[in-house]
Amino acid sequence: EAKRYFSRELLAWYDEHKRDLPWRRSRNPYHIWISEIMLQQTRVDTVIPYFLRFTERFPTVESLAEAPEEDVLKHWEGLGYYSRARNIQAAAKQVVERHDGIVPDTPDEISALKGIGPYTAGAVLSIAYNVPVPAVDGNVMRVLSRYFCLSDDIAKNSTRVKMEKLAGELIPTGRASDFNQALMELGALVCTPKSPHCLTCPVMKHCEGRMSGMEEQLPIKTKA
Ligand code: ADE
Repeated sequence: EAKRYFSRELLAWYDEHKRDLPWRRSRNPYHIWISEIMLQQTRVDTVIPYFLRFTERFPTVESLAEAPEEDVLKHWEGLGYYSRARNIQAAAKQVVERHDGIVPDTPDEISALKGIGPYTAGAVLSIAYNVPVPAVDGNVMRVLSRYFCLSDDIAKNSTRVKMEKLAGELIPTGRASDFNQALMELGALVCTPKSPHCLTCPVMKHCEGRMSGMEEQLPIKTKA
């Protein structure tokens, strides 16, 4: 049905069209984590040089935990939202103290780290460890709202919870890492906020939003 079709076609598309991004050359959970924090409020093109400099200067959790805070902030300069940098260092110290420097691979342990919310937890667990959990951010909610033609208000927490359940059901066995990245990639390259590129979309044929002519109206969002 529509769900299986979606997962199969999306993965096939991703295998062929995924961008070569520095954090995709690594399965290092610490590097994946840094990339996901940087990508939360910042565009991919901007993040790339920061990610490379940061992971070169602080290649391990220990090196980040031990660094002077001003050094960490200096490597964040220009990215903005500096609480992200402070939280990353605080979390690195937690990982050293509680987990011997190894980024934990369970939802409870990783969610207990400073600055790691549901999205980042899901992204790191799935991308780095291939744990079959959803990683739902605004881009993923846009894709799912459109494909399943869901008019739920994405500003509501109950909608996020519903989307997480749906996204979790879509993960093909053994392919959580690629599938979650494929969802993000579709949102970034094809199912864009304005003027989505439906004609090159790998799942257009069964997209309920497109079939209803609603693709540009979705997702529904009340408050900023
Ligand atoms: N946005 C958030 N996470 C991403 C990732 N892993 N790759 C590309 N864009 C992203």
